Amino acid sequence: MIISSANDYREAAQRRLPPFLFHYIDGGAYAEYTLKRNVEDLSKIALRQRVLNDMSQLSLETQLFDETLSMPVALSPVGLTGMYARRGEVQAAVAADKKGIPFTLSTVSVCPIEEVAPAIQRPMWFQLYVLRDRGFMKNALERAKAAGCSTLVFTVDMPVPGARYRDAHSGMSGPNAAMRRYMQSCFHPHWAWNVGLLGRPHDLGNISKYLGKPTGLEDYIGWLGNNFDPSISWKDLEWIREFWDGPMVIKGILDPEDAKDAVRFGADGIVVSNHGGRQLDGVLSSARALPPIADAVKGDIKILADSGIRNGLDVVRMLALGADTCMLGRAFVYALGAAGGEGVANLLELIDKEMRVAMTLTGAKTIADITADCLVNLDKVLAE
Ligand SMILES: Cc1cc2nc3c(=O)[nH]c(=O)nc-3n(C[C@H](O)[C@H](O)[C@H](O)COP(=O)(O)O)c2cc1C
Repeated sequence: MIISSANDYREAAQRRLPPFLFHYIDGGAYAEYTLKRNVEDLSKIALRQRVLNDMSQLSLETQLFDETLSMPVALSPVGLTGMYARRGEVQAAVAADKKGIPFTLSTVSVCPIEEVAPAIQRPMWFQLYVLRDRGFMKNALERAKAAGCSTLVFTVDMPVPGARYRDAHSGMSGPNAAMRRYMQSCFHPHWAWNVGLLGRPHDLGNISKYLGKPTGLEDYIGWLGNNFDPSISWKDLEWIREFWDGPMVIKGILDPEDAKDAVRFGADGIVVSNHGGRQLDGVLSSARALPPIADAVKGDIKILADSGIRNGLDVVRMLALGADTCMLGRAFVYALGAAGGEGVANLLELIDKEMRVAMTLTGAKTIADITADCLVNLDKVLAE
């Protein structure tokens, strides 16, 4: 199969992966309206073409929290990435590292912090959920620090998990789930051999280390499900500050008032995100939520954005709407599921090239040049 985009990787991943894994990554919450809007709203934003400006020297480099990024992109935390390729988090982290961009390890990764961080040169980012078990949170922060992680991404849009209909139908959860997953694996022998067998253990690596016993998919649904904490408030973030002195980024902001609170709290960054449409279906797409947030806090705090970004043009659009850096979720996992770490590396090169085309034809020579001036009729396009 010829691969020229994240969508091609999506199709290739669908063929290679057992359905329960494909739908876990591909699906969203409830009727998946927000998931669709994330992608559609971004692709509708019109770029403003400019020509004859000698665009032979472009720079995609950017600075974020004292780190130099070869382009303004980081990989979002995605739980169970290690199920999509053999020791998948390590493979994805190595690809990001070679490209010169940050990889964020999820709380609920397959590979633990101690396996991924030493595999790469640049410091890893670590994502933490607020969980009832504060002992786990403290333990995870201490381990992330000991492993040299630079930035904490604190996800706040999951005080309760959203309902994902596809998971119940695919065998990820629901009746006879384990049997259904086993049967699906038998019909996907490449995955079954390479990942199902040779990629073991399929623990929730960070949680097994804390509990001192092996964990698995059932604990993902059980332990984690019981541990989400709806009582979370800004006070809990004060508590975390005691254990984390590096940059702290709050992920899951969709409203300017919450963004202002993040500035007041003293966070170093926010991620404008609706969790890829996996939490509250019906909320705004990130592309629509971002401009008023940027109006409220741009310059006071670093603004990262994810949800719906599938190519380099989308990255340029998000930057023009006010983001400082973008994050990729599904796009990199599709590539990982289809072609392992090489797939992720290739996807990042595609995004680099697409960004260069978009910058050349909008007249932006540097990342700082990507502003609302690169867009046409912003208000009109977004009001539609
Ligand atoms: C399968 C899957 C698992 C995810 N797991 C996590 C997670 O463990 N922690 C987290 O903060 N966000 C998680 N997210 C959300 C992503 O970090 C990111 O916000 C989202 O994927 C961005 O949308 P996109 O996939 O359209 O790019 C997950 C997303 C997906 C698709």
